[in-house]
Amino acid sequence: MESIIIQGGKPLTGTVEISGAKNAALPLLAVAILADAPVVYHRIPHLKDVTTMMTLIAHQGAEVTIDDQSRLHIDARTANLPVAPYELVKTMRASSLVLGPLLARFGHANVSLPGGCAIGARPIDMHLKGLEAMGAEIKVEHGNVKAVAPKGLHGAHIVFDQVTVTGTENLMMAAAIADGQTVLENAAAEPEVVNLAQALRDLGANIEGDGTHKIVIEGVASLSGGEITVIPDRIEAATYLSAALITGGDVRATGCNPADLEAFLARVRASGALVETGSDWIRCAAPKRLQAVDISTMPHPGFPTDLQAQFMAIMCLSEGSSSIRETIFENRFMHVQELARMGANIHLDGHMAVVHGVEKLSGAQVMATDLRASASLVLAGLAAEGETQISRVYHIDRGYERLEEKFCKLGASIERCSGREPMMPQVDSFHV
Ligand code: EPU
Repeated sequence: MESIIIQGGKPLTGTVEISGAKNAALPLLAVAILADAPVVYHRIPHLKDVTTMMTLIAHQGAEVTIDDQSRLHIDARTANLPVAPYELVKTMRASSLVLGPLLARFGHANVSLPGGCAIGARPIDMHLKGLEAMGAEIKVEHGNVKAVAPKGLHGAHIVFDQVTVTGTENLMMAAAIADGQTVLENAAAEPEVVNLAQALRDLGANIEGDGTHKIVIEGVASLSGGEITVIPDRIEAATYLSAALITGGDVRATGCNPADLEAFLARVRASGALVETGSDWIRCAAPKRLQAVDISTMPHPGFPTDLQAQFMAIMCLSEGSSSIRETIFENRFMHVQELARMGANIHLDGHMAVVHGVEKLSGAQVMATDLRASASLVLAGLAAEGETQISRVYHIDRGYERLEEKFCKLGASIERCSGREPMMPQVDSFHV
Protein backbone atom coordinates (compact mmCIF):
# COMPACT_ATOMS: atom_id res chain seq x y z
CA MET A 1 0.00 0.00 0.00
CA GLU A 2 1.43 3.36 -1.02
CA SER A 3 1.69 6.29 1.34
CA ILE A 4 2.88 9.88 1.10
CA ILE A 5 5.60 11.01 3.48
CA ILE A 6 6.03 14.71 4.20
CA GLN A 7 8.70 16.46 6.23
CA GLY A 8 6.77 19.58 7.18
CA GLY A 9 7.57 23.09 8.23
CA LYS A 10 8.96 24.58 5.00
CA PRO A 11 7.32 27.71 3.56
CA LEU A 12 6.29 26.95 -0.03
CA THR A 13 7.21 29.51 -2.65
CA GLY A 14 7.22 29.67 -6.43
CA THR A 15 5.00 29.01 -9.40
CA VAL A 16 2.78 26.04 -10.13
CA GLU A 17 1.08 25.29 -13.44
CA ILE A 18 -2.53 24.16 -13.07
CA SER A 19 -3.86 21.08 -14.91
CA GLY A 20 -7.18 20.49 -16.63
CA ALA A 21 -10.16 20.10 -14.31
CA LYS A 22 -11.20 16.57 -13.36
CA ASN A 23 -14.83 17.54 -12.86
CA ALA A 24 -14.95 19.23 -16.26
CA ALA A 25 -13.10 16.44 -18.08
CA LEU A 26 -15.47 13.68 -16.90
CA PRO A 27 -18.71 15.02 -18.48
CA LEU A 28 -16.75 16.27 -21.52
CA LEU A 29 -15.59 12.72 -22.22
CA ALA A 30 -19.22 11.56 -22.15
CA VAL A 31 -20.04 14.15 -24.85
CA ALA A 32 -18.19 11.96 -27.39
CA ILE A 33 -21.03 9.41 -27.11
CA LEU A 34 -23.36 12.00 -28.70
CA ALA A 35 -21.05 13.03 -31.55
CA ASP A 36 -21.34 11.54 -35.02
CA ALA A 37 -17.62 12.08 -35.75
CA PRO A 38 -14.37 11.95 -33.72
CA VAL A 39 -13.81 14.38 -30.85
CA VAL A 40 -10.31 15.62 -29.94
CA TYR A 41 -9.60 16.74 -26.38
CA HIS A 42 -7.04 19.24 -25.14
CA ARG A 43 -5.77 19.56 -21.56
CA ILE A 44 -7.19 16.25 -20.36
CA PRO A 45 -5.59 15.70 -16.94
CA HIS A 46 -3.77 12.44 -16.30
CA LEU A 47 -5.86 11.18 -13.39
CA LYS A 48 -7.29 7.89 -12.24
CA ASP A 49 -10.92 9.04 -12.62
CA VAL A 50 -10.25 10.19 -16.17
CA THR A 51 -8.73 6.80 -17.01
CA THR A 52 -11.83 5.12 -15.56
CA MET A 53 -14.08 7.25 -17.79
CA MET A 54 -11.95 6.43 -20.85
CA THR A 55 -12.16 2.72 -20.00
CA LEU A 56 -15.93 3.00 -19.62
CA ILE A 57 -16.38 4.65 -23.01
CA ALA A 58 -14.02 2.15 -24.66
CA HIS A 59 -16.03 -0.65 -23.01
CA GLN A 60 -19.06 0.68 -24.90
CA GLY A 61 -17.24 0.09 -28.17
CA ALA A 62 -15.78 3.57 -28.85
CA GLU A 63 -12.23 3.98 -30.12
CA VAL A 64 -10.17 5.85 -27.54
CA THR A 65 -6.60 6.85 -28.45
CA ILE A 66 -3.93 9.29 -27.29
CA ASP A 67 -1.68 10.92 -29.89
CA ASP A 68 2.00 11.90 -29.60
CA GLN A 69 1.03 15.39 -28.37
CA SER A 70 -0.98 13.94 -25.47
CA ARG A 71 -4.29 14.81 -27.11
CA LEU A 72 -7.10 12.37 -26.51
CA HIS A 73 -9.24 11.21 -29.45
CA ILE A 74 -12.60 9.50 -29.04
CA ASP A 75 -14.50 8.12 -32.00
CA ALA A 76 -17.77 6.76 -30.65
CA ARG A 77 -19.27 5.87 -34.03
CA THR A 78 -18.36 2.25 -33.33
CA ALA A 79 -20.02 2.26 -29.88
CA ASN A 80 -22.75 -0.37 -29.64
CA LEU A 81 -23.01 -1.35 -25.96
CA PRO A 82 -24.98 1.22 -23.92
CA VAL A 83 -23.91 -0.24 -20.61
CA ALA A 84 -21.93 0.98 -17.58
CA PRO A 85 -21.00 -2.11 -15.54
CA TYR A 86 -20.76 -2.23 -11.74
CA GLU A 87 -17.00 -2.95 -11.86
CA LEU A 88 -16.39 0.54 -13.23
CA VAL A 89 -19.25 2.45 -11.60
CA LYS A 90 -18.28 1.24 -8.13
CA THR A 91 -14.86 2.88 -8.52
CA MET A 92 -16.25 6.21 -9.73
CA ARG A 93 -19.69 7.68 -9.11
CA ALA A 94 -19.35 10.07 -12.05
CA SER A 95 -19.74 7.01 -14.34
CA SER A 96 -23.46 7.78 -14.15
CA LEU A 97 -22.72 10.75 -16.45
CA VAL A 98 -22.96 8.37 -19.41
CA LEU A 99 -26.63 7.60 -18.70
CA GLY A 100 -28.11 10.68 -20.39
CA PRO A 101 -25.91 10.51 -23.51
CA LEU A 102 -26.38 6.72 -23.94
CA LEU A 103 -30.14 6.95 -23.57
CA ALA A 104 -30.37 9.90 -25.97
CA ARG A 105 -28.27 8.13 -28.60
CA PHE A 106 -29.39 4.48 -28.33
CA GLY A 107 -32.90 4.80 -26.87
CA HIS A 108 -31.91 2.43 -24.07
CA ALA A 109 -29.15 2.14 -21.48
CA ASN A 110 -28.21 -0.04 -18.56
CA VAL A 111 -26.09 1.75 -15.98
CA SER A 112 -25.17 0.33 -12.62
CA LEU A 113 -26.45 2.40 -9.69
CA PRO A 114 -23.64 4.07 -7.75
CA GLY A 115 -23.62 3.17 -4.06
CA GLY A 116 -23.20 5.56 -1.15
CA CYS A 117 -19.77 7.03 -0.59
CA ALA A 118 -17.54 8.47 2.08
CA ILE A 119 -18.99 12.00 1.90
CA GLY A 120 -22.69 11.17 1.80
CA ALA A 121 -25.49 9.01 0.37
CA ARG A 122 -25.41 10.87 -2.95
CA PRO A 123 -28.44 9.40 -4.73
CA ILE A 124 -29.07 10.06 -8.46
CA ASP A 125 -32.84 10.32 -8.12
CA MET A 126 -32.94 13.80 -9.69
CA HIS A 127 -31.05 12.55 -12.78
CA LEU A 128 -33.63 9.75 -13.14
CA LYS A 129 -36.69 11.96 -12.54
CA GLY A 130 -35.44 14.39 -15.18
CA LEU A 131 -34.94 11.64 -17.75
CA GLU A 132 -38.43 10.30 -16.97
CA ALA A 133 -39.86 13.76 -17.60
CA MET A 134 -38.11 13.57 -20.98
CA GLY A 135 -39.93 10.35 -21.90
CA ALA A 136 -37.71 7.63 -20.44
CA GLU A 137 -39.13 4.61 -18.65
CA ILE A 138 -36.78 3.73 -15.83
CA LYS A 139 -36.59 0.69 -13.58
CA VAL A 140 -34.02 0.18 -10.88
CA GLU A 141 -33.49 -3.58 -10.56
CA HIS A 142 -30.71 -5.61 -8.96
CA GLY A 143 -28.60 -2.49 -8.50
CA ASN A 144 -28.93 -1.44 -12.15
CA VAL A 145 -30.72 1.47 -13.76
CA LYS A 146 -32.51 0.13 -16.82
CA ALA A 147 -33.73 3.00 -18.95
CA VAL A 148 -35.63 2.85 -22.23
CA ALA A 149 -37.06 5.60 -24.39
CA PRO A 150 -38.95 3.70 -27.10
CA LYS A 151 -40.09 6.92 -28.81
CA GLY A 152 -36.83 8.77 -28.13
CA LEU A 153 -36.34 11.56 -25.59
CA HIS A 154 -38.34 14.77 -25.81
CA GLY A 155 -37.88 18.20 -24.25
CA ALA A 156 -39.32 18.90 -20.79
CA HIS A 157 -39.51 21.60 -18.12
CA ILE A 158 -37.47 20.32 -15.18
CA VAL A 159 -37.08 22.03 -11.82
CA PHE A 160 -34.37 20.43 -9.70
CA ASP A 161 -35.31 20.06 -6.01
CA GLN A 162 -31.69 20.86 -5.13
CA VAL A 163 -28.75 22.08 -7.20
CA THR A 164 -26.99 19.05 -8.66
CA VAL A 165 -23.85 19.40 -10.78
CA THR A 166 -23.71 16.03 -12.55
CA GLY A 167 -27.54 15.95 -12.64
CA THR A 168 -27.55 19.20 -14.61
CA GLU A 169 -24.77 17.87 -16.86
CA ASN A 170 -26.49 14.53 -17.50
CA LEU A 171 -29.77 16.17 -18.51
CA MET A 172 -28.05 18.88 -20.55
CA MET A 173 -26.28 16.20 -22.63
CA ALA A 174 -29.48 14.17 -23.08
CA ALA A 175 -31.45 17.30 -24.02
CA ALA A 176 -28.85 18.34 -26.62
CA ILE A 177 -30.20 15.76 -29.10
CA ALA A 178 -33.72 15.28 -27.66
CA ASP A 179 -36.79 16.36 -29.60
CA GLY A 180 -37.81 19.94 -28.72
CA GLN A 181 -37.01 22.35 -25.91
CA THR A 182 -35.78 21.45 -22.43
CA VAL A 183 -35.68 24.00 -19.62
CA LEU A 184 -33.57 23.19 -16.55
CA GLU A 185 -34.45 25.35 -13.53
CA ASN A 186 -32.46 25.52 -10.30
CA ALA A 187 -29.65 24.21 -12.52
CA ALA A 188 -26.01 24.16 -11.42
CA ALA A 189 -23.97 27.20 -12.49
CA GLU A 190 -20.51 25.72 -11.84
CA PRO A 191 -17.71 26.61 -14.31
CA GLU A 192 -17.58 22.91 -15.26
CA VAL A 193 -21.22 23.12 -16.41
CA VAL A 194 -20.35 26.18 -18.52
CA ASN A 195 -17.37 24.31 -20.01
CA LEU A 196 -19.73 21.46 -20.95
CA ALA A 197 -22.33 23.80 -22.47
CA GLN A 198 -19.65 25.55 -24.54
CA ALA A 199 -18.28 22.22 -25.77
CA LEU A 200 -21.77 21.02 -26.73
CA ARG A 201 -22.36 24.31 -28.58
CA ASP A 202 -19.04 23.88 -30.43
CA LEU A 203 -20.32 20.51 -31.67
CA GLY A 204 -23.62 22.05 -32.86
CA ALA A 205 -25.91 22.04 -29.81
CA ASN A 206 -28.26 24.92 -29.07
CA ILE A 207 -27.90 25.90 -25.40
CA GLU A 208 -28.43 29.18 -23.54
CA GLY A 209 -28.28 30.29 -19.94
CA ASP A 210 -25.35 28.18 -18.72
CA GLY A 211 -23.65 29.90 -15.82
CA THR A 212 -27.10 30.87 -14.47
CA HIS A 213 -29.66 28.70 -12.70
CA LYS A 214 -31.91 28.46 -15.79
CA ILE A 215 -30.56 26.62 -18.82
CA VAL A 216 -32.57 26.32 -22.04
CA ILE A 217 -31.68 23.66 -24.58
CA GLU A 218 -33.26 23.34 -28.03
CA GLY A 219 -32.62 19.79 -29.17
CA VAL A 220 -30.83 19.31 -32.51
CA ALA A 221 -30.85 16.21 -34.72
CA SER A 222 -27.20 15.34 -34.16
CA LEU A 223 -23.86 16.64 -32.91
CA SER A 224 -20.75 16.78 -35.05
CA GLY A 225 -17.19 15.96 -34.06
CA GLY A 226 -14.76 18.69 -33.11
CA GLU A 227 -12.23 19.92 -30.58
CA ILE A 228 -12.86 20.35 -26.87
CA THR A 229 -10.61 22.07 -24.33
CA VAL A 230 -10.93 21.33 -20.63
CA ILE A 231 -10.92 24.37 -18.29
CA PRO A 232 -8.22 24.67 -15.61
CA ASP A 233 -8.90 22.92 -12.33
CA ARG A 234 -10.07 25.61 -9.87
CA ILE A 235 -9.94 23.17 -6.96
CA GLU A 236 -6.37 22.15 -7.75
CA ALA A 237 -5.35 25.82 -8.03
CA ALA A 238 -6.92 26.68 -4.68
CA THR A 239 -5.26 23.67 -3.06
CA TYR A 240 -1.76 24.90 -4.07
CA LEU A 241 -2.61 28.45 -3.00
CA SER A 242 -3.77 27.04 0.33
CA ALA A 243 -0.37 25.40 0.68
CA ALA A 244 1.23 28.84 0.52
CA LEU A 245 -1.14 30.12 3.18
CA ILE A 246 -0.74 27.25 5.62
CA THR A 247 3.07 27.16 5.37
CA GLY A 248 3.63 30.93 5.55
CA GLY A 249 4.69 30.97 1.89
CA ASP A 250 3.99 32.74 -1.39
CA VAL A 251 2.70 30.81 -4.42
CA ARG A 252 1.58 31.84 -7.89
CA ALA A 253 -0.80 29.44 -9.66
CA THR A 254 -0.62 29.91 -13.43
CA GLY A 255 -2.90 28.79 -16.25
CA CYS A 256 -6.02 29.19 -14.09
CA ASN A 257 -9.04 31.47 -14.00
CA PRO A 258 -9.40 33.79 -10.95
CA ALA A 259 -13.09 34.41 -11.76
CA ASP A 260 -13.84 30.74 -10.98
CA LEU A 261 -12.50 31.14 -7.44
CA GLU A 262 -14.03 34.41 -6.27
CA ALA A 263 -15.71 33.02 -3.13
CA PHE A 264 -12.52 31.26 -2.03
CA LEU A 265 -10.30 34.28 -2.73
CA ALA A 266 -12.68 36.58 -0.83
CA ARG A 267 -12.30 34.41 2.29
CA VAL A 268 -8.52 34.26 1.81
CA ARG A 269 -8.38 38.07 1.62
CA ALA A 270 -10.55 38.29 4.75
CA SER A 271 -8.02 36.10 6.56
CA GLY A 272 -5.38 38.78 6.01
CA ALA A 273 -3.45 37.16 3.13
CA LEU A 274 -2.26 39.01 0.06
CA VAL A 275 -4.15 38.00 -3.08
CA GLU A 276 -3.13 39.22 -6.53
CA THR A 277 -4.67 38.11 -9.80
CA GLY A 278 -4.03 38.47 -13.51
CA SER A 279 -6.04 37.23 -16.46
CA ASP A 280 -4.80 33.66 -15.97
CA TRP A 281 -2.92 33.56 -12.69
CA ILE A 282 -3.45 33.97 -8.97
CA ARG A 283 -0.85 34.75 -6.32
CA CYS A 284 -1.44 34.20 -2.61
CA ALA A 285 1.08 35.22 0.04
CA ALA A 286 0.57 34.42 3.70
CA PRO A 287 0.56 37.14 6.38
CA LYS A 288 2.54 36.64 9.58
CA ARG A 289 -0.43 34.77 10.97
CA LEU A 290 -3.79 34.12 9.30
CA GLN A 291 -6.93 35.39 11.03
CA ALA A 292 -9.83 32.97 11.52
CA VAL A 293 -12.75 33.46 9.11
CA ASP A 294 -16.02 31.56 8.74
CA ILE A 295 -17.20 29.70 5.66
CA SER A 296 -20.39 28.00 4.56
CA THR A 297 -20.31 25.76 1.50
CA MET A 298 -22.80 26.61 -1.23
CA PRO A 299 -23.38 25.80 -4.90
CA HIS A 300 -21.41 28.06 -7.29
CA PRO A 301 -20.80 30.98 -7.02
CA GLY A 302 -20.71 30.20 -3.29
CA PHE A 303 -17.81 28.66 -1.42
CA PRO A 304 -17.17 25.21 -3.00
CA THR A 305 -17.65 22.09 -0.89
CA ASP A 306 -14.60 20.69 -2.71
CA LEU A 307 -12.47 23.26 -0.84
CA GLN A 308 -14.02 22.91 2.59
CA ALA A 309 -11.47 20.38 3.87
CA GLN A 310 -8.48 22.37 2.57
CA PHE A 311 -9.82 25.60 4.09
CA MET A 312 -10.35 23.83 7.39
CA ALA A 313 -6.70 22.77 7.35
CA ILE A 314 -5.62 26.41 6.92
CA MET A 315 -7.93 27.53 9.72
CA CYS A 316 -6.34 24.99 12.09
CA LEU A 317 -3.32 27.32 12.32
CA SER A 318 -5.14 30.65 12.24
CA GLU A 319 -5.61 33.10 15.07
CA GLY A 320 -9.08 32.79 16.61
CA SER A 321 -12.03 30.47 15.97
CA SER A 322 -13.58 29.73 12.63
CA SER A 323 -16.96 28.12 11.96
CA ILE A 324 -17.14 25.88 8.93
CA ARG A 325 -20.59 24.87 7.77
CA GLU A 326 -21.06 22.09 5.22
CA THR A 327 -24.41 22.40 3.45
CA ILE A 328 -23.91 20.18 0.37
CA PHE A 329 -22.90 16.76 1.71
CA GLU A 330 -24.03 15.27 5.02
CA ASN A 331 -20.80 13.47 5.90
CA ARG A 332 -17.97 15.58 4.56
CA PHE A 333 -16.06 15.97 7.82
CA MET A 334 -14.05 12.75 7.88
CA HIS A 335 -10.81 14.73 7.85
CA VAL A 336 -11.65 16.28 11.23
CA GLN A 337 -10.50 13.26 13.24
CA GLU A 338 -7.33 12.96 11.16
CA LEU A 339 -6.49 16.65 11.57
CA ALA A 340 -7.07 16.19 15.31
CA ARG A 341 -4.34 13.50 15.28
CA MET A 342 -1.99 16.25 14.13
CA GLY A 343 -2.92 18.54 17.00
CA ALA A 344 -5.83 20.48 15.50
CA ASN A 345 -8.53 21.67 17.88
CA ILE A 346 -11.86 21.16 16.11
CA HIS A 347 -15.29 20.79 17.65
CA LEU A 348 -17.81 19.02 15.45
CA ASP A 349 -21.54 19.63 15.79
CA GLY A 350 -23.64 18.15 13.00
CA HIS A 351 -23.08 20.12 9.80
CA MET A 352 -20.86 22.65 11.55
CA ALA A 353 -17.25 22.42 12.66
CA VAL A 354 -15.70 25.05 14.89
CA VAL A 355 -11.95 25.26 14.45
CA HIS A 356 -10.00 26.84 17.30
CA GLY A 357 -6.68 27.89 15.82
CA VAL A 358 -3.54 26.41 17.41
CA GLU A 359 0.07 27.63 17.25
CA LYS A 360 1.41 24.51 15.58
CA LEU A 361 0.53 21.11 14.15
CA SER A 362 2.71 18.08 14.60
CA GLY A 363 3.40 15.34 12.07
CA ALA A 364 1.51 12.08 12.54
CA GLN A 365 0.31 8.96 10.74
CA VAL A 366 -3.05 9.75 9.18
CA MET A 367 -5.40 8.16 6.69
CA ALA A 368 -6.98 9.65 3.57
CA THR A 369 -10.73 8.96 3.40
CA ASP A 370 -11.72 10.79 0.22
CA LEU A 371 -10.11 12.98 -2.38
CA ARG A 372 -10.44 16.44 -0.80
CA ALA A 373 -9.94 15.13 2.74
CA SER A 374 -6.62 13.74 1.48
CA ALA A 375 -5.67 17.18 0.17
CA SER A 376 -6.35 18.71 3.58
CA LEU A 377 -4.04 16.18 5.22
CA VAL A 378 -1.28 16.97 2.71
CA LEU A 379 -1.67 20.67 3.54
CA ALA A 380 -1.58 20.02 7.28
CA GLY A 381 1.46 17.77 6.81
CA LEU A 382 3.30 20.49 4.85
CA ALA A 383 2.84 22.90 7.77
CA ALA A 384 3.34 20.43 10.63
CA GLU A 385 6.51 19.99 12.61
CA GLY A 386 8.19 16.69 11.75
CA GLU A 387 7.04 13.80 9.60
CA THR A 388 3.52 13.05 8.40
CA GLN A 389 2.66 9.77 6.76
CA ILE A 390 -0.60 9.66 4.82
CA SER A 391 -1.96 6.25 3.87
CA ARG A 392 -4.64 5.31 1.29
CA VAL A 393 -3.27 7.91 -1.09
CA TYR A 394 -5.04 6.39 -4.10
CA HIS A 395 -7.77 8.90 -3.25
CA ILE A 396 -5.35 11.71 -4.14
CA ASP A 397 -4.54 10.16 -7.52
CA ARG A 398 -8.19 10.51 -8.50
CA GLY A 399 -7.94 14.28 -8.59
CA TYR A 400 -4.39 15.68 -8.35
CA GLU A 401 -2.03 15.27 -11.30
CA ARG A 402 1.69 14.85 -10.37
CA LEU A 403 1.02 16.10 -6.86
CA GLU A 404 4.41 15.29 -5.32
CA GLU A 405 6.29 16.74 -8.31
CA LYS A 406 4.33 20.01 -8.16
CA PHE A 407 4.77 20.37 -4.40
CA CYS A 408 8.49 19.52 -4.64
CA LYS A 409 8.94 22.35 -7.17
CA LEU A 410 7.48 24.71 -4.56
CA GLY A 411 10.09 23.57 -2.06
CA ALA A 412 8.19 20.87 -0.18
CA SER A 413 9.78 17.73 1.10
CA ILE A 414 7.22 15.17 -0.02
CA GLU A 415 7.57 11.71 -1.49
CA ARG A 416 5.56 8.64 -2.26
CA CYS A 417 6.60 5.49 -0.59
CA SER A 418 5.44 1.96 -1.18
CA GLY A 419 7.81 0.22 1.20
CA ARG A 420 6.60 1.49 4.56
CA GLU A 421 3.41 -0.07 5.76
CA PRO A 422 1.01 2.39 7.35
CA MET A 423 0.24 1.61 10.97
CA MET A 424 -3.42 2.55 10.61
CA PRO A 425 -6.02 -0.27 10.76
CA GLN A 426 -7.22 -1.35 7.31
CA VAL A 427 -10.86 -0.62 6.48
CA ASP A 428 -12.86 -0.93 3.30
CA SER A 429 -12.12 1.69 0.67
CA PHE A 430 -14.38 4.68 0.10
CA HIS A 431 -14.96 6.38 -3.18
CA VAL A 432 -16.09 9.83 -4.23
N1 EPU B 1 -28.31 14.84 -4.75
C1 EPU B 1 -29.48 14.16 -4.56
N2 EPU B 1 -30.04 13.53 -5.65
C2 EPU B 1 -29.49 13.58 -6.88
C3 EPU B 1 -28.26 14.29 -7.07
C4 EPU B 1 -27.72 14.91 -5.97
O1 EPU B 1 -30.03 14.09 -3.46
O2 EPU B 1 -30.07 13.02 -7.83
C5 EPU B 1 -27.71 15.55 -3.61
C6 EPU B 1 -26.32 15.00 -3.23
O3 EPU B 1 -26.43 13.86 -2.39
C7 EPU B 1 -25.68 16.19 -2.56
C8 EPU B 1 -26.24 17.37 -3.37
O4 EPU B 1 -27.43 16.88 -4.00
O5 EPU B 1 -26.11 16.28 -1.24
C9 EPU B 1 -25.32 17.93 -4.44
O6 EPU B 1 -24.75 16.87 -5.16
P1 EPU B 1 -24.30 17.02 -6.69
O7 EPU B 1 -25.22 16.18 -7.51
O8 EPU B 1 -24.15 18.43 -7.06
O9 EPU B 1 -22.87 16.33 -6.65
P2 EPU B 1 -22.23 15.52 -7.83
O10 EPU B 1 -22.71 16.05 -9.12
O11 EPU B 1 -22.38 14.06 -7.59
C10 EPU B 1 -20.15 17.03 -8.25
C11 EPU B 1 -18.65 16.87 -8.19
C12 EPU B 1 -18.23 16.74 -6.73
C13 EPU B 1 -18.66 18.01 -6.00
C14 EPU B 1 -20.19 18.20 -6.15
C15 EPU B 1 -20.69 19.50 -5.53
C16 EPU B 1 -18.16 15.77 -10.27
C17 EPU B 1 -17.71 14.57 -10.99
N3 EPU B 1 -18.28 15.68 -8.94
O12 EPU B 1 -20.71 15.87 -7.65
O13 EPU B 1 -16.80 16.66 -6.73
O14 EPU B 1 -18.34 17.92 -4.64
O15 EPU B 1 -20.54 18.21 -7.54
O16 EPU B 1 -20.05 20.58 -6.09
O17 EPU B 1 -18.39 16.81 -10.88
C18 EPU B 1 -14.70 16.08 -5.86
O18 EPU B 1 -14.20 16.48 -6.92
O19 EPU B 1 -13.99 15.80 -4.85
C19 EPU B 1 -16.15 15.93 -5.77
C20 EPU B 1 -16.75 15.22 -4.82
